[in-house]
Amino acid sequence: MAIMTDEAAALDVRQVVEDFPLLCARSQDARRASGKRRLVYLDSAASSELPQCVLDTMERYYETTHANVHRGVYQIAEAATQCFEDARARIGRFVGAPDPAREIVFTRNATEAVNLVAHSWARDNLSENDTVLLTEMEHHANMVPWLILAKERGVKLRFLEIDDDGELVLDDLGRMLDGVKLVGVTLMSNVLGTLNQVTEIAAAAHAAGALVIADGAQYVPHLPTDVTGIGCDFLVFSGHKMLGPTGVGVLWARAELLDRMRPFMGGGEMISDVRLDGFEPAEPPWRFEAGTPPIAEAIGLGAAVDYLGSLGMQRVREHDHALSAYTMDALAERYGHDITVFGPRDPKRRGAVLSLAFMGIHPHDLSQVLDDQGICVRAGHHCAKPLMRRLGVPATTRASFYVYNDTTDADALVDGLAEAARLFR
Ligand code: ALA
Repeated sequence: MAIMTDEAAALDVRQVVEDFPLLCARSQDARRASGKRRLVYLDSAASSELPQCVLDTMERYYETTHANVHRGVYQIAEAATQCFEDARARIGRFVGAPDPAREIVFTRNATEAVNLVAHSWARDNLSENDTVLLTEMEHHANMVPWLILAKERGVKLRFLEIDDDGELVLDDLGRMLDGVKLVGVTLMSNVLGTLNQVTEIAAAAHAAGALVIADGAQYVPHLPTDVTGIGCDFLVFSGHKMLGPTGVGVLWARAELLDRMRPFMGGGEMISDVRLDGFEPAEPPWRFEAGTPPIAEAIGLGAAVDYLGSLGMQRVREHDHALSAYTMDALAERYGHDITVFGPRDPKRRGAVLSLAFMGIHPHDLSQVLDDQGICVRAGHHCAKPLMRRLGVPATTRASFYVYNDTTDADALVDGLAEAARLFR
């Protein structure tokens, strides 16, 4: 397993990639032997691949310890509960939670975590005279729950615009915050890669009496995260974009907010007492985890944050930055005005997500031609239709990088586009 001991060294991708069964040399050789092209996986913003240690942790759990959690008093049930709660605490520490055991709520994904806040906090704290401030670049996950609330409760929505470089326009933030009770903002755009100034936004929001929900689905997997430093009140993220399994996501919220929030779903394990005429909810975080939770998935996510921690999140960030800068330069040099990379031109201002428009070729066609060369990218609106309208395109082709990608993958993308140009010109 890749363990980085030299603090100053760059990420050793040749070593890292060997931890990933789908991408390791043996797997690539097997593909080649069956006549397929080398797999170039550039869709980690949609879902990342899993290292062997995460797969092993989940398999070992199922093979040796599996039982339901918080219920049985026999040994393996207690061991399962211990593993599950240990994972919660490690994930909490990974994002700098002040009280990791109490402030991490497991959900199915980041989307469910936003819906939890919209249900359990917003329905008791927002009414028709209140405003929620969002941004034009939000993923539907941090937009549709608030559109639903606007329709149901008459809550008003307002949107921070973006400039032509894909940055939020914050000049008028004070006025935009007037009457606002909640700000919803992504830490990193899943389309533009923009790294938003959430610390500044949160400080202004708090001064105006508003709380902040930060969408960390793209950020938490790629940059060192500290909820206290960011200054948000809620943070959501997903396991499957950070080397963990699908089916588990996370809501972090300040303990005093969770204490005052009503349950999300009703059912087993979220109560302290039930009578025929009512119930008492359990303490957080269990109050928000009705029914059997994603046990193996949470334990797998615990292993994923351990793995990311062993690589070093600052190193992951530097790797993303270097690879994005390399790819943007290579695309510009080879294709000039024939290619548009949406979002900030300065790689320091963005994550490793490159959304492209290329020679007027439809993103679905482009993605198909790249797929024929073994290159996996996402084509579409990326669950950000208002942003697509702002950019004036129906869709983009998005390449996204992670710890197992290097410049050979970037070169494959640059060369792969040439094949599309040849076919469609
Ligand atoms: N939210 C994921 C993406 O941006 C699925 O692709």
